[in-house]
Amino acid sequence: MPVPAAARARAEQLRRELNEHNYRYYVLDAPTVSDAEFDALFRELQELERHHPELPTPDSPTQRVGGAPRADFAPVRHRLPMQSLNNCFSEDELREFDRRVREGLRRDAVEYVAEPKLDGLAISLVYEHGVFARGATRGDGETGEDITENLRTVRSIPLRLRTGHPPRLAEVRGEVYLPHKGFERLNRQQAERGEKTFVNPRNAAAGSLRQLDPRITASRPLAFYAYALGHREGFQGPRTHFEVLALLREWGFAVSGLAEIVDGFDGCRRYYERLAQRRATLPYDIDGVVYKVNDIASREELGSVARAPRWAVAHKFPAEEAVTVLENVEFQVGRTGVLTPVARLRPVFVGGANVGNATLHNMDEIARLAVEIGDEVVVRRAGDVIPEIVRVQRPGAQRRAIRLPAHCPVCGGTVERAEGEVAARCMNGLSCRAQLHGALLHFVSRRAMDVEGLGEKLLAQLVGAGRVSSPADIYRLDAATLAGLERMGEKSAENVMAAVGKSKQTTLARFLYALGIPDVGEATARDLAAHFGSLEALMEAAEQDAPTTHAAKDKDRCPRLRQVPDVGPVVAACVSHFFGEPRNREVIRALRDAGVSWPAAEKAAGGALAGKTLVLTGTLPGMNRDEAAELILAHGGTVSGSVSKRTDYVVAGADAGSKLEKAQKLGVPVLDLDGLRRLIG
Ligand code: IVH
Repeated sequence: MPVPAAARARAEQLRRELNEHNYRYYVLDAPTVSDAEFDALFRELQELERHHPELPTPDSPTQRVGGAPRADFAPVRHRLPMQSLNNCFSEDELREFDRRVREGLRRDAVEYVAEPKLDGLAISLVYEHGVFARGATRGDGETGEDITENLRTVRSIPLRLRTGHPPRLAEVRGEVYLPHKGFERLNRQQAERGEKTFVNPRNAAAGSLRQLDPRITASRPLAFYAYALGHREGFQGPRTHFEVLALLREWGFAVSGLAEIVDGFDGCRRYYERLAQRRATLPYDIDGVVYKVNDIASREELGSVARAPRWAVAHKFPAEEAVTVLENVEFQVGRTGVLTPVARLRPVFVGGANVGNATLHNMDEIARLAVEIGDEVVVRRAGDVIPEIVRVQRPGAQRRAIRLPAHCPVCGGTVERAEGEVAARCMNGLSCRAQLHGALLHFVSRRAMDVEGLGEKLLAQLVGAGRVSSPADIYRLDAATLAGLERMGEKSAENVMAAVGKSKQTTLARFLYALGIPDVGEATARDLAAHFGSLEALMEAAEQDAPTTHAAKDKDRCPRLRQVPDVGPVVAACVSHFFGEPRNREVIRALRDAGVSWPAAEKAAGGALAGKTLVLTGTLPGMNRDEAAELILAHGGTVSGSVSKRTDYVVAGADAGSKLEKAQKLGVPVLDLDGLRRLIG
């Protein structure tokens, strides 16, 4: 039955009024109706929508109460990566930042916008034709999680932009946080219900956003501050950051009223001091100041390095410190066998959390601090950083020296400290349970084989039960074994099995990274994969570079592996050694037998790029680094990690940084993705 025109019109009016009241209450903090009046209007709309199920629209305020629970969150690829910020901790570092910006822009003075650094979670909100369509977490910056339904319940996030001329597409970025009052209320409720309380507002906000049941998120008093525009289509966007903030405010977002335009280093420094004074009086947590170059065109000129822009920096407030007693020291064994001394402290509240453990890094650090068990120590904690012992406040009356154990505390294996090395290691390799557990955790992690749902606890159970003693055993698991473990049902077991199956299709770069070769991080893994194109070629080079053929001098060692740009003698030796170990070769063979594979990216001998060396930089539209590298290899080219006179082309995407600059300086031709495609034909 069609909805009567009068009902449709009334519903629309109610939606508009309710959204306006929401805005006045949650964004402007200046309500014009009582709660009872608001509730009456809300119920009228709910009633109308119940009668006419075609009525509810995505921007209806009734959609904020939270829909049906989900099984998981789908991954979302950000159209523009969500970068992070570099930190500075002192005035000198701030001065340095400003100097680099001025130098980069060849200008004497630069205008910045200074704003509070909110201690919450970065979020991306996509509006299509003015209507909230999708919201996601930052994730690893490239891929986040779709938490649209949860974000819909955050009252200060507009479901429709307050403009008569909405752009085709606009992505708004900002921070979801929990104000102090809401945090206290939430913890009171949790305690009353006998549920776990949160240590700080940030953890509470994170926990609330990651609820699979949006109704729980709806019950948490979360708030949102917008601070940036991301991807956009169909409109240009303002020329300065300050105008961006004004536009966001106009569209109905809460924007920090503390943001200010400041001049140069001195302006930044003065703002920092003022905000530090006000920090304790603010109704939410902040952990520093963010300075951003105000002029958007200048930002593009400056670009980015790694995952952070050159045009912004976070100036952190000093970490909080507290005094407590060092009660004991235990040694933890990491995935490469390194023993790390961990301080067990008398618990103390510092930097927004209860701290009972702190890292002591290594034996050299213990000697430097001259710390012993029983001492009163100063502990420091800032944000997410692992707490540290800064110094001894007062030596304990009955202090006891901290000694490096002669045997591994986990497996009893010998502990050795190589000449000139700071770290002490358990020499038992993967037969040590701790190393095995660490290696497996790394193997399944998101940026490696990405086996979702196979977490720390599950792996510990599998290792403990002797079910998994090498990464290849993961591919020999069956649903019945998994379902028999603690806190696993049949459904979760099936999900894990599906994730294990899915992870078999990977890329060579991810596979190499997952192997956990010492000193081979993601970037090196990518470089190795791009240079050799196949595991066979890499292993052959590693074999030829093996110790028997080593020249006496470091610089002549591992000549084949060292042809890979950015691979020095230490990394090359690690790679060659790793592939020389029979056990590692065995694990690799078992993994491939189990079906782990990647698209062959054999270097095509006579392709359009034969003999050419290309460098990738910035974010390419619709293609990640691995895919672009494979495309180049498939056409006979070589991908290198750094620009030199021998580089034939630089392929640059959005936010390209120093590599692009260097290409321009050296006169190396620069292509965009379309240019590359044309070259390949
Ligand atoms: S701008 C490329 N502005 O800090 C710049 N970030 O370390 C992107 N944050 O992930 C961020 N307050 O979660 C920006 N006023 C602010 C911020 C802010 C807090 C967080 C955000 C980001 C992290 C970067």
